Amino acid sequence: ASILVLHGPNLNLLGTREPGIYGSSTLAEINQQLVDAATDAGHHLQTLQSNAEYELIERIHDAKHEGINFILLNPAALTHTSVALRDALLATGIPFIEVHLSNVHAREDFRKHSYFSDIAVGVICGLGPKGYLLALDAAMAQLKHD
Ligand code: DQA
Repeated sequence: ASILVLHGPNLNLLGTREPGIYGSSTLAEINQQLVDAATDAGHHLQTLQSNAEYELIERIHDAKHEGINFILLNPAALTHTSVALRDALLATGIPFIEVHLSNVHAREDFRKHSYFSDIAVGVICGLGPKGYLLALDAAMAQLKHD
């Protein structure tokens, strides 16, 4: 199957960005682990990080036409602000898992609300980069049963 991983704003800075909160892994390292795990299991996995909301939205639109089967999404700060990104996912109907490196519930109050959690297949937060791998596992298990 085809899996798309989307990373929102500022996640290109992983490794140096508030390492006490987000850890020391770089985005390139996280993406490589995901590509390796998906490829080993016979799936095709693509990744995109963008600091621009419209790029993430347009990637979701294109995903529909490309036949992407599942999305792993860390909307980053757009989690707490973006009705537009939410609507893009609703419009395409592609199932997705929401991932956050940090435990958003243990931080500022404004991080407790997500525009995505109620329409996600599931949500993982607080487990660092491992969260993406767990989400990929869950996505692959779900794709097997489709
Ligand atoms: C984040 C949590 C968000 O609140 C924050 O804006 C991010 C990263 C996370 O992965 O923990 O940029 O999505």
